[in-house]
Amino acid sequence: MRGLRHLTCTADLSPQEIEEIFSIAQRLKKALTKGKRDSFLKGKTLALIFEKSSLRTRVSFEVAMHQLGGDSIYLSKHDIELGQREAVKDVAHTISRYVHVVALRTFGQEVIEEMTRYSSVPVINALSDAYHPCQALTDLFTLREKLGKLEGMTLAYVGDANNVARSLACLSARLGVNFRIASPAGYQLSPTFMEEVEKRAQRKAIYQTDDPQEAAKGADVLYTDTWVSMGQENEAEVRRKVFKDYQVNSSLLRLAKERVLVMHCLPAHRGEEITDEVLDGPHSIVFDQAENRLHVQKAILKFLLRD
Ligand code: CP
Ligand code: NVA
Repeated sequence: MRGLRHLTCTADLSPQEIEEIFSIAQRLKKALTKGKRDSFLKGKTLALIFEKSSLRTRVSFEVAMHQLGGDSIYLSKHDIELGQREAVKDVAHTISRYVHVVALRTFGQEVIEEMTRYSSVPVINALSDAYHPCQALTDLFTLREKLGKLEGMTLAYVGDANNVARSLACLSARLGVNFRIASPAGYQLSPTFMEEVEKRAQRKAIYQTDDPQEAAKGADVLYTDTWVSMGQENEAEVRRKVFKDYQVNSSLLRLAKERVLVMHCLPAHRGEEITDEVLDGPHSIVFDQAENRLHVQKAILKFLLRD
């Protein structure tokens, strides 16, 4: 019998465990295309506690549970009013008596940590202000699928050093991917975060600059995300000015490798962090990424719920 496991950020997983999740995802994806169904989550229920909006994360988790024979229940911020109507720890104690796994989308990472402290079932970080581990796992799974091997390739992220960027940095470092990030001053990865990540890397893994062109030069992959994450709506005007030169467009693409892959976790803000031309163009793999959320969510559930 294994102990209780959670997925708060990708540092919770060893490289072997990441590999295990990737191979489960690959197997389940293949099985699905052949019309084979595995019902190993029969009798299990997932609670999705979401304090922020979602398309991909919510739908992929719900469909994953359904396809694997389980059930899910969605609780929006108005249902629970986490930490307001009731303390996080009381919610954690109570919900653990009803369901087998919880996916939590919230603001502060401390809410995720608090939920894991008091929950007696696995808790999955379905996005916090600090991390988006399910997204980064899917992204590197997708790249491995496309490129065959991850080690030594260069992923250049252009834009805000946000939750998605932080999770990509952590996971890239773990898997031997060179992670370059171009963000404007004041919106960069903190030195403490970078030090922590480098400690878990096999070699120097992160290179940070404020120059998008420098980051893009010769890159295998160009990645971007919104300039204004959920919860930052009141900074939108300022951010749009600060980030205006941090756009993934065709001139940036020309600096990267000829067969560069373009990624975006979505939702995209067309004409802001990415142009229509690039998002809809031949280098873009954004909808393959979105599809793979389903296969990787299944693998995460299987990994956390096995006896
Ligand atoms: N990429 C992602 O997590 O999308 P949603 O916010 O729609 O879930
Ligand atoms: N950085 C974005 C990711 C959305 C999937 C946000 O937090 O809003």
